Amino acid sequence: MLKKTLIAASAISLTALSLSACGSDDAAGSATDDGTITMGFAQVGAESGWRTANTKSIQDSAEAAGIDLKFTDAQGKQENQIQAIRSYIQQKVDVIAFSPVVETGWDAVLQEAKAADIPVILTDRAVDSEDTSLYKTFLGSDFVVEGEKAGQWLVDNAADSDVNGDGKINVVQLEGTTGAAPAIDRAEGFADTTSADPSIEVTASQTGDFTRDGGKQVMESFLQSDDTIDVVYAHNDDMGLGAIEAIEAAGLKPGKDIKIITVDAVKDGMIALSEGKINYIVECSPLLGPQLMDLAEKVLAGEEVEPRILTEETTFTPEQAKEALPTREY
Ligand code: AHR
Repeated sequence: MLKKTLIAASAISLTALSLSACGSDDAAGSATDDGTITMGFAQVGAESGWRTANTKSIQDSAEAAGIDLKFTDAQGKQENQIQAIRSYIQQKVDVIAFSPVVETGWDAVLQEAKAADIPVILTDRAVDSEDTSLYKTFLGSDFVVEGEKAGQWLVDNAADSDVNGDGKINVVQLEGTTGAAPAIDRAEGFADTTSADPSIEVTASQTGDFTRDGGKQVMESFLQSDDTIDVVYAHNDDMGLGAIEAIEAAGLKPGKDIKIITVDAVKDGMIALSEGKINYIVECSPLLGPQLMDLAEKVLAGEEVEPRILTEETTFTPEQAKEALPTREY
């Protein structure tokens, strides 16, 4: 199967999902007569610092580009996103963009958008569909590569990561939302890379749903059942920060007694990294707004766009975090 594959309001409001026309009586898929583009954006939720920064980037960029943004927060539920997309179709927006909560189950609603001649742009996360004609392009990170970078750091730092000194590196994994592209891909990339070192073993893996509370609760239960944990690999900073709280509450030192690797590089994560509580962060940029608005303008102008647009990202050690923090945007 082909691998393809975000409110100011606290809930999907009736207004946001109302069936009333908004902004345009023109045919779907092109800007209004005065040139104003209306974009319907269905956001995952507000689960993490990354997501908050991503939402701000999209809202600020739409305003700067003069794009009329209809924004909904799906509160982490696929059914809410599907409902929001259907509402955008009925409102005849010019373009729909969304970051899918999970990878599968999108074909029907995307076919409805296609039938209504409304172009769709995937941002941040991909959908798992055979039919790539259902969307114009996918803008976002390569989550497999992010997992590989996390795994490579562990392979390169294996000797220092055997905290218990028993010749084995016991890793516990805090997974993102079950079925979400970044959770699937970051686990895959990490497993692929760490398989080079037989001393590294993922001894427990459970979802923390990309939230700080989720990471804390899962880490508390891991700590209660296992006193040989050497490393935490968290699929995002927030879960890693929750794990830090659990580790400290257990009387241990995060970053020393238990090594921590995370993904995102949001400000709170970078502060913990600079303090040595996290050992390594793989960056995942949430600043997708400017590129997304540019792509929407191009698609609606009938220009060809690349089917896959990758985000440029780096990695951070504690020293690099100290350098980067004063100018960190999010
Ligand atoms: O899809 C991107 C991921 O979603 C981020 O890494 C995570 O923090 C967010 O919730």
